[in-house]
Amino acid sequence: MREDGKTISMLTAYDFPTAAILDDAGIDILLVGDSLAMVVQGHETTLPVTMDQMLYHAEMVGRAAKRAMVVVDLPFPEGQREISRSVDCAARVLKETKCHAVKLEGGAEQAERIETLVTAGIPVMAHVGLRPQNIHVDGGYRVHREIDALVVDALAAEKAGAFAVLVECVTVDAGKAITEAVAVPTIGIGAGPHTTGQVLVTNDLIGLTQGYTPKFVRKIADASTLIRDAATTYREAVADRSFPGASESF
Ligand code: KIV
Ligand code: NA
Repeated sequence: MREDGKTISMLTAYDFPTAAILDDAGIDILLVGDSLAMVVQGHETTLPVTMDQMLYHAEMVGRAAKRAMVVVDLPFPEGQREISRSVDCAARVLKETKCHAVKLEGGAEQAERIETLVTAGIPVMAHVGLRPQNIHVDGGYRVHREIDALVVDALAAEKAGAFAVLVECVTVDAGKAITEAVAVPTIGIGAGPHTTGQVLVTNDLIGLTQGYTPKFVRKIADASTLIRDAATTYREAVADRSFPGASESF
């Protein structure tokens, strides 16, 4: 798609019905993101979600995707431990689900791991810039501005065989520089308009996330209000006995 000058659309998905709708809407890549720790499980960071839980969700999304590519995050700390352990985890994604690739956080320091995974037949998307699994070392969520270091990370990931680089929360200039430096697709989230694709957390996009959402989110729908209104209408119909009606009864 990059070669053809087409921008790539990517969204997160965590369950069968949502994945089926996103696939049907023509989204190019579905990401079973470890963001599910926050937006599905209700944790404060992405760190608590386990490999088994990722596989549980990956199975559902993989079953739903008819045309989209499906990428699965390696959860903390499976992308940071012994490389052979990462291979085992990533292999489970390909063996036990219908998903196609894994994503892991990091650039230059992950080159050997990426190369080993790709050699083993496992496509890898790299993830540079803000790395949510690294916030306790990095000092929290912040905009990354170190263009040279970011470009080094992206180039190392590409050289190691990553098929694409996700770029999170960097300046517009950094997003542009990274995209110009590599030949593989760059997919941005909070990385400005110059990356060759964009990704958002679906729950943020549709207004299902409770509480804070970052500046880079575009909230296009208000699913929270939709669900609350439906629940309220149902509760009232139950209370006043207008539900079930004759057509809903045997
Ligand atoms: O887990 C996730 O949702 C991500 C985002 C950056 C899209 O990795
Ligand atoms: Na993630």
